[in-house]
Amino acid sequence: MAHFEGRFIDRIVVLTGAGISAESGVPTFRDADGLWEQHDPMQIATPEAFMRDPDLVYRFYNARRARLPGVEPNAAHHAVVRLQREFAGDVFLVTQNVDDLHERAGSQQVCHMHGRLQAALCTACARSTPMSGDYDGTTACPACGTSGSLRPDVVWFGEIPYYMDEIETRLADCDLFIAIGTSGLVYPAAGFVRRALQCGATTVELNRETSDVSGLFHHQRKGLATAVVTALVEELLAA
Ligand code: APR
Repeated sequence: MAHFEGRFIDRIVVLTGAGISAESGVPTFRDADGLWEQHDPMQIATPEAFMRDPDLVYRFYNARRARLPGVEPNAAHHAVVRLQREFAGDVFLVTQNVDDLHERAGSQQVCHMHGRLQAALCTACARSTPMSGDYDGTTACPACGTSGSLRPDVVWFGEIPYYMDEIETRLADCDLFIAIGTSGLVYPAAGFVRRALQCGATTVELNRETSDVSGLFHHQRKGLATAVVTALVEELLAA
């Protein structure tokens, strides 16, 4: 149990977005240097885009996957691990990110609602296989051997995110909802704060700027994730 802004906290849900990985050198989507400033998401991150030009899509995700070994988790990822390890109550981490920085920082529980870069989904057998290297339309599925059936195991626009039932249960049951580094523009993740509010949780937004849903948070802490996440975790663990 902890005290936060005058109430007992026992169950925490943490939602992260690209902003938590920004200081590790992983580009976000909508900042000035973001991925969607250089690529049209409708040409890359939709099932139709993959049908239309699979090689363009394979190349986009292969390039992002290849950059992962060159970046490291930052102090914000490590602060989340500390919260997960040391908080006396329950912490559920759900991320929109497809990078592996939460895991590499030491998080044992990470709910990747938008999938993971380091995996391949087989459209023949529907199994997801860990893949750290490049793959394309000629790569055989390691699970079923079918060739040409692999796609990035990333949830594209128009697709249903993973683990929504579990996320809903956690949101309905939490006392504190913390959103870190997300613009609040993409649903259903952008709606999690509203659900947490409906269920009586205290809500906190940690972001460098104001997001599209900042008005729905009881508390906003503006700053770089490495500073504001570390400070909030210290406050929660000291309470
Ligand atoms: N510290 C804190 N916040 C930061 C930092 C930082 N160093 N750098 C950027 N931010 C914030 C920005 O202010 C912005 O609100 O992170 C957010 C990044 O927003 P987006 O680029 O839109 O990323 P995200 O919210 O994760 O996007 C959601 O959109 O394209 C889809 O599937 C993709 O998961 C992604 C989803």
